[in-house]
Amino acid sequence: MSPAPLIERYRDRLPLEPNDPVVSLNEGSTPLVEATAISERVGARVLLKLEGANPTGSFKDRGMTVAVSRAVGGGAEAVICASTGNTAASLAAYAARAGIHGAVIVPEGQIAIGKLAQALMHGARVIALRGNFDDAFAIVRELAQRHQVELVNSINPYRIEGQKTGAFEVCDELGEPPDALAIPVGNAGNVTAWWRGFSEYECAPILYGFQAAGAAPLVHGQPVAKPETVASAIRIGNPARWEDAMAAFTSSRGRVEAVTDEQILDAYRLLASSEGVFCEPASAASVAGILAHGMPPASPGGDAPETVVCVLTGHGLKDPDTALGKAPAVIRCENDAGAVERAVFD
Ligand code: F0G
Repeated sequence: MSPAPLIERYRDRLPLEPNDPVVSLNEGSTPLVEATAISERVGARVLLKLEGANPTGSFKDRGMTVAVSRAVGGGAEAVICASTGNTAASLAAYAARAGIHGAVIVPEGQIAIGKLAQALMHGARVIALRGNFDDAFAIVRELAQRHQVELVNSINPYRIEGQKTGAFEVCDELGEPPDALAIPVGNAGNVTAWWRGFSEYECAPILYGFQAAGAAPLVHGQPVAKPETVASAIRIGNPARWEDAMAAFTSSRGRVEAVTDEQILDAYRLLASSEGVFCEPASAASVAGILAHGMPPASPGGDAPETVVCVLTGHGLKDPDTALGKAPAVIRCENDAGAVERAVFD
C-alpha cells in the first residue's frame, strides 16, 4: 500500500487552512537504511535517509506538496521559482497535478539533465538564465512582487513546514532522536526545516552541515560571487536562509564545514559501490563531511555521537552525466560467446 500523503500524516503540525486542497503524490515515508561500510569507517551507527525515493526524486516534494496546496487554497493560478534543478522538477510536477501554471528559472547549462527533462515533461515554462542561481533568485523575487504568482523557493514558509517532516519521520522510526544529523547545505532551507522539525519534537541532535568548498559562503562568513562545484544542486553563493541556518547550527551546537569536490565524489562512489545507494553528488556531501571532519561532540570533552543520520537529498539518476563521467568504463564486446566469456570472467 502506498503511504498516505504527507499532509494527511502530519496535518495537525502543518499550517494549512481547513479548505486547502491536498495536492499530493504521496511523498515522504522515505527509507531509512543502515550504512554498514560507512558506519565501520566512522566508528558510529550511520543511517541514510533516502530522500531520492520521493516522487520526483528529491526532498523538495515534502515542501512542494504543502506550498502548492496552500497556494491553490489561496487562489494562486501560477507558481514560480529559481532553481539548481530539483525545486524546478518538483514545482513542475506539483503544478501539473494541481492544474496550474509553473515557471522555473535555472542557470543555463548548469543543472543536471534529468532535472531539466522532468521540468519540461511536466509542462513548466523553463527559462535558462545566462547567470547563476543567485542571479536567478534575485530576479524571481522581484517578479513575484510585480505579478500574480506564488514564489515557492525556500523563503516560502510552507516549503520549510513541509520539509520539517523529514525530522518527524526519523524520530518516529528510530523511536528516539538520532544523536546527530549530517546534511548538505545550499540555499539553507533544508537544514532550517530539519531543525524546526526536531525542535517541534523537543529534541536537539547535533547538526553537521556541509557545503562544497567552492560554494561555501556559510563557512567563510561571506557570500561567494562565483560559486563552483561538481555538485550543481548546491552551487549557491548567497543562501536565502543564511541566518536561520546559522542559528540552527549554533542552537544544536553543531557546525558547518566545507568538503572538496574530490571528497564529494569519493563519497558518491563509495555510497553506490559499498552501500548500494545511488544519490546525486550534492547529497553525498553529507557522507563526505562526516568522513572528512568526523563527528565532533557538542562541547569539548562531551560524548561523541553514536547514531548519525545522513540526509541523501536527491537520486543519482538525476545526474547521469556526472555518474558516467566518474564511473568505470563499459566493456565493449564482439557478438561472440567466447568474447563475452573473456569479458565477464577474465
Ligand atoms: N541537495 C540537493 C539534491 C538539492 O537539490 C539541494 C538544493 C540541496 C541539497 C540543498 O538544500 O538549498 O535547502 O540547503 N536545491 C535547490 C534547488 C537549491 O533549486 O533545487 P538547501
